[in-house]
Amino acid sequence: MQKKAYEIKQLFARFAANESLPFDQEIFVEGWVRTNRNSGKIAFIELHDGTCFRSLQIVYGPELKDFEAVTHYNTGAAIGVRGKLVATPEGQQPFEVHAAEIILLGSVSDDYPLQKKRHTFEYLREEAYLRPRANTFDAVFRLRSVLAMGVHTYFQDRGFVYVHTPEITANDAEGAGQTFLVATDAKDPVNDFFGRRASLTVSGQLHGEAFALAFKNIYTFGPTFRAEKSNTTRHAAEFWMIEPEIAFADLEDDMDLIEDCIKYLIRYVMDRCPDEMAFFDQRIAPGTIAKLEAVLNAPFTRMEYTEGIRLLQEAVAKGHKFENNKIEWGMDLQSEHERYLTEEIVKGPLFLINYPKEIKAFYMRENDDGRTVAACDLLVPGEGEIVGGSEREERYDVLKTKMDALGNTKGLEWYLNLRRFGGCRHAGFGIGFDRLIMYITGIANIRDTEPFPRTSNNLKY
Ligand code: 4AD
Ligand code: MG
Repeated sequence: MQKKAYEIKQLFARFAANESLPFDQEIFVEGWVRTNRNSGKIAFIELHDGTCFRSLQIVYGPELKDFEAVTHYNTGAAIGVRGKLVATPEGQQPFEVHAAEIILLGSVSDDYPLQKKRHTFEYLREEAYLRPRANTFDAVFRLRSVLAMGVHTYFQDRGFVYVHTPEITANDAEGAGQTFLVATDAKDPVNDFFGRRASLTVSGQLHGEAFALAFKNIYTFGPTFRAEKSNTTRHAAEFWMIEPEIAFADLEDDMDLIEDCIKYLIRYVMDRCPDEMAFFDQRIAPGTIAKLEAVLNAPFTRMEYTEGIRLLQEAVAKGHKFENNKIEWGMDLQSEHERYLTEEIVKGPLFLINYPKEIKAFYMRENDDGRTVAACDLLVPGEGEIVGGSEREERYDVLKTKMDALGNTKGLEWYLNLRRFGGCRHAGFGIGFDRLIMYITGIANIRDTEPFPRTSNNLKY
């Protein structure tokens, strides 16, 4: 048998580009059986080799050596196929392989958890080590890989420096107290390895700021960790965040960059993952492509938090029922409120800006009104917040007063010093990478966008 197999991706790519294909010649392919159907006279294997979303149809009949045995190569078995590539202009697929030989490369036991029937996402989560073989996850994880490249391409093309901010840190950047402890001695973590309390990072921002004040434009892109007990479809204990930080920039610049970046990333995957996107559109969340096209073609709405509160109060007055119906200025919006604004009022992505300072992180720049900070959350239909950003407090005295009051100055003197050593206006944001994938694919649960999700009480793999 020929040594080097054709990748199914190559075949479809050449076909799409009108390039020559070895029609009526013998080729060799290898992959895993998705389905194997036999009508007695003729049999079909749907062969998936992992190189693209599509499968290749293999046709064989009783004249094949070991025909009987081959009909029992079940879903999941690894096989090699030698056969003729045949154009099938009338068929469901543009070509197929008429097998002359099919060999078993890896058998599959009868207790294989992924039989060909459709499985629920809940079931597949329990079999997380096998689910990349299911077509939904084939689509999700290939798109995730492509999107990651899109992130790097976007920022690198614009001269942003990629910074590997540390995963182990002594700060709680968001001040929300959701850190995971890092220790070798659980009994005395403070006098442990680092000589002070260490935790996994909740955000690379503070270290990112140090680099932005040297390189002007930087980004981080890596895992972040939050001990979120809230068991929602949008929270994971480990998730990836993209955190750009830009110097000599204000909130407007920040929002312009967020909007441009999100649109670029949507376009990037739509161009590069058409099969996957078509699948999401047909099978996961009908209307996804039209939704994204609309997003690309309109500016994102920008609205004051105060106006958002007014609209929510108006909705309640008109009889709308939220689980939390007590809408008042100063409250932290819940997802139901965010979603009402973005789904019912704006019907598209919405920047809500200038939040009450009490409900936002300490590093956000205080506005002249003395009660709000220059923050922006990007809210999207179906999900709520996917990006959080702000202009940073660059005034030493204002920041120090705030941090002293909060009690987090100690250990973050260096962060304050950035304000004394050439500190200038700067801004940044964090895109929840997994939430962005949910938005683009229409996948409803963050657990189904992450290869091996980590949430509370869930560490099976
Ligand atoms: O709004 P957050 O907490 O902002 C920050 O961490 C800032 N330091 C970002 C910055 O300005 N550099 O988080 C940013 C985004 C959220 O909008 C959300 O999309 C995502 O990170 N996120 C989570 N995603 C999954 N699971 C969680 N537990 C998340 N917490 C936040
Ligand atoms: Mg936030």
